[in-house]
Amino acid sequence: MLILGIESSCDETAAAVIEDGVSLLSNTIHSQVDIHEKYGGVVPELASRHHLENIYPVVQDALDQAHVSLEQIDGLAVTQGPGLIGSLLVGLSFAKAIAMVKKIPYVGVDHMVGHLLSVFLTGEKPSFPYVALIASGGHSNIFYVESFLDFKLLGRTRDDAAGEAFDKVAKLLGLPYPGGPVISDLARQGDAHAIAFPRARLEAQSLDFSFSGLKTAVATYVMRCNKDGKEINQADIAASFQEAVVDVLVEKAIRAAQQSNVKNLVLAGGVAANPRLREEIKRQSKKNGLNIFMPPTHFCTDNAAMIALAGYYQFEARATQRLDMDVYSRSQF
Ligand code: KG4
Ligand code: ZN
Repeated sequence: MLILGIESSCDETAAAVIEDGVSLLSNTIHSQVDIHEKYGGVVPELASRHHLENIYPVVQDALDQAHVSLEQIDGLAVTQGPGLIGSLLVGLSFAKAIAMVKKIPYVGVDHMVGHLLSVFLTGEKPSFPYVALIASGGHSNIFYVESFLDFKLLGRTRDDAAGEAFDKVAKLLGLPYPGGPVISDLARQGDAHAIAFPRARLEAQSLDFSFSGLKTAVATYVMRCNKDGKEINQADIAASFQEAVVDVLVEKAIRAAQQSNVKNLVLAGGVAANPRLREEIKRQSKKNGLNIFMPPTHFCTDNAAMIALAGYYQFEARATQRLDMDVYSRSQF
């Protein structure tokens, strides 16, 4: 079964073709980072306009790379939400148009489910059930995953997502967007214990996150340095901030696996591209007798391969959607 996946929830226009849920035949991504960089974050209106320009060539490229035509595609899988409404609408409308003209069935895929299943795209795969930490620019959630179709939310951020915190801290340090990769590079030269930034652990057993206080602590630290005429060491700030995020993410992910009594832990989402987070969750998983699974970094950040894969399992379960299906901006979990 050949599935064409389409992803346009934020600032990446992406398309991919997967065969029988296992062979990835193509994976095309067009990033808009250079468009949004000068604004220090994604400008929704600009994102939608650029998706409109890019969706056709990106989908065509994915088909070309896979050496297939639309006529050979058995099903379309398109990101339905959560994300930016205007951006999502471009992908969904495009998929609906193809579905109608070429008479191909289609399904809407939740973007979070794409991240949750991205670990099946390559490499060693976990068995069910597993606990997954999805840390991205829009979400920081912990899920209990029972099958390719069953997901239970165990914890979520109460304010900023982890990636959002990286992006906001980068902005206040005058660093470019997206902040995650820039901060993690800078952190390599810094001292992670130079500044004692707070770790918000919330209630004793809570699996929720809160990163807005940490962001404010960094802002306050920078302001105080400026006021006192103290030199700002960006690398130390980056390393100390990153360590505070990593500490809390790893601690809660491990606790979630222990509370759920599962041995398999998955880390995915854009922030899972962070080398320090990958290193620490691996170390702590080993220490606690857990098996850790992480997709390679190019499958952690947004892509359509994960959407095509998640869509494949929906088709396998005989799900299809009506043409009046709509997008949604907020998480359904
Ligand atoms: O999953 P993703 O590509 O898009 C969303 O669904 O949000 O995640 C993007 C987020 C951004 O906030 C970006 O700064 C963050 O992932 N990110 C990182 C790293 N690479 C990307 N955060 C920390 N360290 C990284 N190396
Ligand atoms: Zn994402």
